[in-house]
Amino acid sequence: MTASATTPQVHHVPLATPFQDQKPGTSGLRRPTPVFQQPHYLESFLEAVLQILPGVQGGTLVVGGDGRYGNRRAIDVILRMACAHGVGRVVTTTDGILSTPAASHLIRISTGCVGGIILSASHNPGGPEEDFGVKVNGANGGPATEQLSDAVYQATLTLQGYAIAEAAAIPLDRPGRHRLGTTAVEVVDGVEDFVVLMQKLFDFDQLRDFLGSGFPVTFDALHAVTGPYARRIFENLLELPAGTVRHGAPLEDFGGGHPDPNLTYAKPLADALLQGDEFCFGAACDGDGDRNMILGRGCFVNPSDSLAVITAHATRVKGYRQGLAGVARSMPTSAAVDVVAETLAIPCYETPTGWKFFGNLLDAGKITVCGEESFGTGSDHVREKDGLWAVLFWLSILAAERCSVTTLMERHWATYGRHYYSRHDYEGVEKAAATELYGALQNRLPQLAGQPLAGDRIRQADEFSYTDPVDGATSSSQGLRILLESGSRMVFRLSGTGTRGATLRLYLERHEPSNGTLNLDPQKALAPLIRGAEQLAGIRQRTGMDTPTVIT
Ligand code: G1P
Ligand code: ZN
Repeated sequence: MTASATTPQVHHVPLATPFQDQKPGTSGLRRPTPVFQQPHYLESFLEAVLQILPGVQGGTLVVGGDGRYGNRRAIDVILRMACAHGVGRVVTTTDGILSTPAASHLIRISTGCVGGIILSASHNPGGPEEDFGVKVNGANGGPATEQLSDAVYQATLTLQGYAIAEAAAIPLDRPGRHRLGTTAVEVVDGVEDFVVLMQKLFDFDQLRDFLGSGFPVTFDALHAVTGPYARRIFENLLELPAGTVRHGAPLEDFGGGHPDPNLTYAKPLADALLQGDEFCFGAACDGDGDRNMILGRGCFVNPSDSLAVITAHATRVKGYRQGLAGVARSMPTSAAVDVVAETLAIPCYETPTGWKFFGNLLDAGKITVCGEESFGTGSDHVREKDGLWAVLFWLSILAAERCSVTTLMERHWATYGRHYYSRHDYEGVEKAAATELYGALQNRLPQLAGQPLAGDRIRQADEFSYTDPVDGATSSSQGLRILLESGSRMVFRLSGTGTRGATLRLYLERHEPSNGTLNLDPQKALAPLIRGAEQLAGIRQRTGMDTPTVIT
């Protein structure tokens, strides 16, 4: 153990003007890196967190990140501020590498842990000119509730200054124990505990047999945090050939890429599966490891369908043989899982966008599995969505069913019907134009019911609001819903994670019964709805954009 010879000197740094822009979005405080590099910016937010998070004094905190530019500096600042605030112990990881789901797990297994600070801007690009972020998790391992995030924000608005200790940087190159004054600092391997958890949930022997029997797979870590985890799982434990994990070294700028596992940003992987025939299965995770994309040969699995398939086959998988207590999906996610839940006679909850809304349902044991259309799936094993968990779940289903991804999807639709689904993103829209578009539609909602649209008729038009069934908290203004008589729907939302301009998200969904046409291209199947959305909201004219920037 290394110990600072003397108690580090604590500085109280005054803030001349408190920052007014530190309101966390859908998932933490996310800003361009240069914003975080302004003097005192990071420290201001951290001071508010350390003041507001219950139990900080004498408690344990977990700290790590996705390895992006700024990660190491932020960990150093957190350690020195934790020391200044009398944190009892900080658990951090080798090289500061810790995926979001692994952080959630580490919080849950660390004695006396009051929460964690995860340094990530998730799927946003990283680097000196790209994005950085700070996420705060509570003692249950899940993202801070809206109430906690808001209290942190309120504290930043009037902050007079912050406290930070003066000390040399703690080496993070290997596991070890250190001391900063009265604060113990433990550097642990950020991969090990997570891998042990995966081995409890999934039958690695069954997976090894199946994958070794001629089912070639490839995994793209996009030079982000999952590389070391995926190498350990796929190449070491499951004995797949070296190179199974592509782009496995975490880089500060993700190799210049956009670490978002979708058809646009993980194109080489998508091409390998959708055009080539070398692999039977392909998957990718995002910057901080909580998102996943699943591909079969010639087959892209829509994330809403993925949640439904996982739910339908859960009892085929080791950790879930006893069945699911219930499921939940975010409002814009398709109702594919609802149909499965109905068949299984288990409850299905509809929450606002953002993982934090699943926390109470998971803690209360009301749900076991949950997911979002935005490539997020997870279960009660942690309190974050979990990209590698989803990949292992899919492989476990395939190993149990001994079939291809395409066959599994065809069987699923033939049983439950198909929810044709797509999300159209308009990124980098001028803020005023996006707000006007949204506001104009919002104002018209009361007049829309009964109006014809897309060869259909509007049954209900409203703004989604949610009352948490566990603590009764209400969250309003969670997206505009246009529900049609046939059951089709469209949803308009403004992103809460973008850092430049505004992002308009349009979600489109239409259910085709099991005896209908199940093999259409979703964009074709949804064409009348796409035209209807344009007619309703005037997206082209208001944004000046002819087509979405990303279609999933
Ligand atoms: C997006 C997704 C949302 C997800 C969040 C964090 O938020 O839509 O489902 O929980 O990223 O990964 P948005 O930008 O839409 O607010
Ligand atoms: Zn993420």
